[in-house]
Amino acid sequence: MDMAAPARRNSDLGTALEEAREAYAAIRPLSAALHARSSEVMPGGNTRSVLTYSPFPTAMARGEDCRLWDLDGHSYLDLCGEYTAGLFGHSERRIHAALHAALEGGINLAAVGQGEERLARLLCTRFPSLERLRFTNSGTEANLMALTAARGFTGRGTTMVMRGGYHGGVLTFPVSGSNLATLPLPFVTTAYNDSEEATRLAGRYAEDLAAIIVEPMLGSGGCIPARPDFLATLRMLADKTGAVLIFDEVMTSRTSAGGVQARLGITPDMTTLGKYIGGGMSFGAFGGRADIMAQFDTTMPHAGTFNNNVMTMAAGGVAMGEIFTAEAAEALFQRGETLRARLNAVARDAEVPLGFTGVGSMMTVHFRQPLPESPYATTPLEEGLRELFFFDMMKAGIYLARRGMVALSLPVGEAEMDRFVAAVGEFAESRAELLRAHTV
Ligand SMILES: Cc1ncc(COP(=O)(O)O)c(C=O)c1O
Repeated sequence: MDMAAPARRNSDLGTALEEAREAYAAIRPLSAALHARSSEVMPGGNTRSVLTYSPFPTAMARGEDCRLWDLDGHSYLDLCGEYTAGLFGHSERRIHAALHAALEGGINLAAVGQGEERLARLLCTRFPSLERLRFTNSGTEANLMALTAARGFTGRGTTMVMRGGYHGGVLTFPVSGSNLATLPLPFVTTAYNDSEEATRLAGRYAEDLAAIIVEPMLGSGGCIPARPDFLATLRMLADKTGAVLIFDEVMTSRTSAGGVQARLGITPDMTTLGKYIGGGMSFGAFGGRADIMAQFDTTMPHAGTFNNNVMTMAAGGVAMGEIFTAEAAEALFQRGETLRARLNAVARDAEVPLGFTGVGSMMTVHFRQPLPESPYATTPLEEGLRELFFFDMMKAGIYLARRGMVALSLPVGEAEMDRFVAAVGEFAESRAELLRAHTV
């Protein structure tokens, strides 16, 4: 599935997209048929919004290491990395062994076990803010529980969130406007990386401010890193007002042994985790200062049938105890930094307005220069270029998030990164005129 030789295409974006969609659909009849059948029983033929795109999403049949095969038999280099949850690839044998062993011991035991103590201890040892933690089934739940903990601890109601922030489907804060699915809690929004606005807002709501919640890198908001001085300002504002500072490290925890908090030396009061930490099983965790978490000893209920399910606890223990060591985290971070620099150099050389922002092994493509330092509403032209980029990468046999996000998994090696750099170079070359014509 190599791309055709570079050819400068003069057609306008609409035509290019139409051609790309047709070529995409033509070689995926089985994915198309599954989508049609699925639509009879699931709205949109889907049960996870992020996987919905037109004309229909590619259905995968199986995966191995960092490779995927779709229903129609095409193979891909997997750079989506399950939106950061797939850190270990698809066939890490130690995780498989841990899961098989857990199965041997029986599932759904309805009791406490050794697995959760092991994983909790591993995480409390690694993340500076985690004195105590509890498990959930997802990052969304972890954030909901962290907000509950902050409200209970402070006896206050208001939470400061970032425009462009994402803490789960029911905790989504668009750059402008609102999201129907977001829970109707008393949120006040501020601009990301804007210390002045955050300071003004904290002053205005000081007496009722229960929590400030922030992603140290906006993940779904475009892999835009927080400036260290912004996070330091939030730390100071929380101290001043008595609010609980929560770092949502669901994505960024992979950037070092102890996440961004360890990398920058800024310790929040609470941290939420998710994604890869359960070794690829459903996972979430929230935790922090012992005095805040002590509520869960007594007054604050925290339920969840699958909170300590043996599969997640077993896989997570091996994942964090044996595979994703501090050294492995640092090496992955550095590999991602190098890859992003190479991609941006390719775009610079081609003199096109394309570039990647991110932290370590997570990055997202943007079609504007200079690269953004805060989230933005994409223009329809940028949306078109993003879609074209996705289809061109699919044509090159590279699977990434439809929104142009890449999350490296551990099995991704030098050869795979070379291949991606070459594909992006080819995109920059073959689509140069379209890219330049649509500079934002
Ligand atoms: C920063 C952040 N927080 C929370 C979540 C929600 O996690 P989950 O999908 O496990 O509910 C996500 C998921 O993408 C995320 O990126």
